[in-house]
Amino acid sequence: MSTIEIKKITKKFGEFTAVKDADLSVKAGEVVCLLGPSGCGKTTTLRMIAGLERTTEGDVVIAGKRMNELPPEKRDIAMVFQFYALYPR
Ligand SMILES: Nc1ncnc2c1ncn2[C@@H]1O[C@H](COP(=O)(O)OP(=O)(O)OP(=O)(O)O)[C@@H](O)[C@H]1O
Ligand SMILES: [Mg+2]
Repeated sequence: MSTIEIKKITKKFGEFTAVKDADLSVKAGEVVCLLGPSGCGKTTTLRMIAGLERTTEGDVVIAGKRMNELPPEKRDIAMVFQFYALYPR
């Protein structure tokens, strides 16, 4: 297991900012729950950690390694969706 850190990550879809300057640090073995109103950016944040979305700004660091440019299959991390979905690769 490894640590996950997100550092000031922002995601913009065109002019719309879905996530702004989000920071989070998760230690190995820790269970973390993201709570917030619909549309506040929870899924977008998870997608950036998993590599399914690129960050507009900020860094995703897993086990001390900056992952921003790595595709999902090279991050050694995954996510499950609320509904059945095909996972890229
Ligand atoms: N691909 C996209 N293009 C444009 N806007 C998007 C895209 N994906 C998400 N958004 C917008 O970004 C915002 C955050 O969406 P997100 O799905 O991350 O919210 P959420 O917190 O997971 O909501 P919910 O609790 O409903 O699952 C929303 O306003 C959403 O409409
Ligand atoms: Mg969601």
